[in-house]
Amino acid sequence: MTVNHIQSHSGDYRGYDIRPSTEINEELVRVGPGTPCGEYLRRFWHPFFLSSELGERPVVIRILGEELVLFRDKSGRLGLVHKRCPHRQASLEFGRCEDKGIRCCYHGWQFDIDGSLLDAPGESLTLNRRLKDRVRLGAYPTVEYQGLIFAYLGPPTQQPEFPIFDAMTFEKMERVPYAAPFRCNWLQVLDAILDPLHTSFLHSSIGRVQFSEGFGEVGQIDIFDRDAWLLGVNTRRVGDNVWLRVNELVLPNFTQAGSAFAADGTEVRYYGRSSFTRWVVPLDDENTTCFAWANFGQRGDPPEWNTPEGPELIEQGEVFDRSYEEKQRSPADVEAVEGMGPITVHANENLVVSDKGVAVMRKRLLDEIKKISNGGQPLRANKNSEGVVPTYGGDTVLTMPRQSSDDEATLLSRLAHAFMAIQFDTSDESDLDRQAEVIEELQRLEQSGLGEFVNGQ
Ligand code: FES
Ligand SMILES: [Fe+2]
Repeated sequence: MTVNHIQSHSGDYRGYDIRPSTEINEELVRVGPGTPCGEYLRRFWHPFFLSSELGERPVVIRILGEELVLFRDKSGRLGLVHKRCPHRQASLEFGRCEDKGIRCCYHGWQFDIDGSLLDAPGESLTLNRRLKDRVRLGAYPTVEYQGLIFAYLGPPTQQPEFPIFDAMTFEKMERVPYAAPFRCNWLQVLDAILDPLHTSFLHSSIGRVQFSEGFGEVGQIDIFDRDAWLLGVNTRRVGDNVWLRVNELVLPNFTQAGSAFAADGTEVRYYGRSSFTRWVVPLDDENTTCFAWANFGQRGDPPEWNTPEGPELIEQGEVFDRSYEEKQRSPADVEAVEGMGPITVHANENLVVSDKGVAVMRKRLLDEIKKISNGGQPLRANKNSEGVVPTYGGDTVLTMPRQSSDDEATLLSRLAHAFMAIQFDTSDESDLDRQAEVIEELQRLEQSGLGEFVNGQ
């Protein structure tokens, strides 16, 4: 049976007139060596590999537009080196790991993990000595921490200390390393963290309810721009409760949020913390991987979600490996951001009030990029009195019945400001002191109720 749809054509059809721009925002999206953003990102440590995936053989990896070889020598030390051997450019992925460093497969030159030439067999001793002075393999420093391998790819004179964020030290938590791949530019992936609104649609009402019903409620969104931080607080009313969910970016690419499954607004929760601790790492201009820990335990997601799929569900609401039809029926973050194309063109967007976080973030990044291009130093997150970087991502749910006759959105916004002020004021304290003080203050707020904010406090 054939069906004919001969529709009226009186609408304002504009397909022919609207021609999208193809001009990409080069300064923000290019990450290779020598590009403005690439140089900025090279001033920070980035995770790029899971320890569990590194065996006895070298692997080729990509990060910031560079193709490199990662290996663990037989003494257990990590090496991250340029892919090509400086003798005649054979790939070191076919090299052999030695007690000290790696040996090229072609003529057996051996390099230490810092790239120095240790041995050039077949050459005379004198030549060997001269070669060692002259020849060097490019290499980068690495740090292995709780199952993630990090690298610093910037100028050696500018190498920062390896930062420890508080969430990396919380006790009685299980941190499960994971990697989430995206076939698109890094900024598309990063944008989502300061776009709390998308959880009410992408994760709640377009397809399946991916986290919980509570996410479907569009809340009051407040953006906090402070030092190296950008924080998006989504404050929702759930019955008699108020749910404050804090999404966090520490420039340039460290992200946290609330939990995926521990909070839905229906039960009181004091100062829950992020269910992931994550970096959005550009592999090249058109590929990105989020390297992260999924955090299970009292301050993150419930241990029963610590399954093989758990981190994938936390990362984006769906497992990674799905059929095209499943992706269409219940799209997740990866579909939303890859669907924009390999590098989205900002000139074709129409940013609105709810995109404030995204707009502020891009501006802050651009300012930092320009600062580095002009020879300045990047803004870095401050450490607390214990030498770790305090963070803010998480969920808090308080019982605070609605105040009749007052503008609820304004009261919720004031509450969000009060909550963040408590967190900022305690940011220099040790984790345990901070936790105790924040919870005490939250309980005090809860007892006073929203009425405390009626007169604009
Ligand atoms: S190409 Fe590596 S030793 Fe010759
Ligand atoms: Fe998302």
